[in-house]
Amino acid sequence: MKDTSKRPIGIFDSGIGGLTVVAEMMKRLPNEDIVYFGDIGRFPYGVRSPEVIKKFSRQNVRFLLMQKVKYVVVACNTASAQALNAIRRNFDIPMMGVIEPGAYGAVSTTKNRKVGVIGTAGTIASSSYTKAIQKLDGKIKVVAAATPLFVALAEEGYLDRPASHLIVQDYLLPIKKRGIDTLVLGCTHYPLLRNVIAKVMGHRVFLVDSAEWTVKAVKEDLQTRTLLNHSRIPGKYRYFVSDTPEKFIQVGNRFLGRDVAPAKRIDIEKY
Ligand code: DGL
Repeated sequence: MKDTSKRPIGIFDSGIGGLTVVAEMMKRLPNEDIVYFGDIGRFPYGVRSPEVIKKFSRQNVRFLLMQKVKYVVVACNTASAQALNAIRRNFDIPMMGVIEPGAYGAVSTTKNRKVGVIGTAGTIASSSYTKAIQKLDGKIKVVAAATPLFVALAEEGYLDRPASHLIVQDYLLPIKKRGIDTLVLGCTHYPLLRNVIAKVMGHRVFLVDSAEWTVKAVKEDLQTRTLLNHSRIPGKYRYFVSDTPEKFIQVGNRFLGRDVAPAKRIDIEKY
């Protein structure tokens, strides 16, 4: 039987955003093969109920398992927040979400123990980041806010325009006033807005990118489980989506910083 460590890593997200996690994987784990599933046909997850997100996430994992993956990364913050605990119980495969690593990143970064978290409405309503941060350090004060318009800004390529600056200011100035020294970018799309967020928050506030901390955690976990692929051959990447792939390919190139073509459409309802 083929050595398990040579199998690909499966990554899923509600759509394009999880490519920010793939970009980190390419940097830190360049020899790993990746199978990515972007659920663009059922995007966005951020406004849906936990029950629906759990159902979608189970289907996504079933699809990835059919691709013989050795490990599953839930790149979507909303799915990590609302479904990961439940789906971990359903499948016999190691999984990593983005919330715990992001929380660890925040706890390791803050000095004044005041941390801000931004994400979709679903992620913030679940309080998952707040709970994960306070589990690591009960003395940390967490200020959490939903910033849903940031998703549209990132997808439309409104990365550093005057309009994006105004919207980011509107959402973030109230959080800044609370005296945080660390802000968690708790959504797949937000790393694209890093520059404008940094300008608004100022140099005294550190930005924690969940994607970065997640890939560090995945690497460690693969090592512990002896699942790390030690091959010297560069990883191969396959992309699947649940609707026509044109927009995914076009916008995805911006999220990934390189070509995502070809991407293949699959019927996720079959899983
Ligand atoms: N991928 C989602 C997340 O990280 C953002 C977009 C959505 O609402 O589905 O929460």
